[in-house]
Amino acid sequence: MKQSIFLRKAGLEDKENLFKWANESTTRQMSFNSEPITWEQHIEWFEKYIDDDHHLILIMMNEEKDPVGVIRFEIQKDEAVIAITIALDKRGKGYAVAGLKESIQYLFQKKEKVKSITAFIKHENRPSLGAFLKAGFKEKDPDYNHKGFKCYYLIYNRTMV
Ligand SMILES: CC(C)(COP(=O)(O)OP(=O)(O)OC[C@H]1O[C@@H](n2cnc3c(N)ncnc32)[C@H](O)[C@@H]1OP(=O)(O)O)[C@@H](O)C(=O)NCCC(=O)NCCS
Repeated sequence: MKQSIFLRKAGLEDKENLFKWANESTTRQMSFNSEPITWEQHIEWFEKYIDDDHHLILIMMNEEKDPVGVIRFEIQKDEAVIAITIALDKRGKGYAVAGLKESIQYLFQKKEKVKSITAFIKHENRPSLGAFLKAGFKEKDPDYNHKGFKCYYLIYNRTMV
């Protein structure tokens, strides 16, 4: 299903949604730290990163102007590591593919120093692998060890846009 996604920077009004999406059980399982997140930890995270030059937190809005998920970039020099979460009731509708494509353009436009985007995807996370490949990411290493977990290491270079 082809979708249109509009991206905007996350703000105070997204605090509750971000907490709910982050604590959903599959999201926790597919993260590299699977412990549940407390509201206090969430607030600390939110206040630290919402306005930080090395982090970009983007809310995905669908055509009805509903927030459907979040894409986060952690930027270190010329490389950005990407993470995505779609709201549980909005999965399987093509939002991840559309949001990833949109976010690639957004990042390369706004952060001129960034040359490549990296994704680490746990082996069991087939939906995520499918979405990233469909959005144009290329496999760099199918058996990479990231934080002690077997992962797909995918990459999207600025030259691929
Ligand atoms: C992974 C995730 C972001 C995918 O979002 P989504 O909006 O459901 O994905 P899309 O609908 O855009 O799916 C696009 C492609 O992904 C693949 N895909 C999606 N759901 C799938 C599933 N259940 N099984 C296998 N492949 C799947 C398919 O290739 C699909 O394309 P197709 O519909 O043409 O077959 C979503 O499931 C999610 O938020 N999961 C929890 C958090 C998470 O795992 N984040 C990623 C960490 S790396």
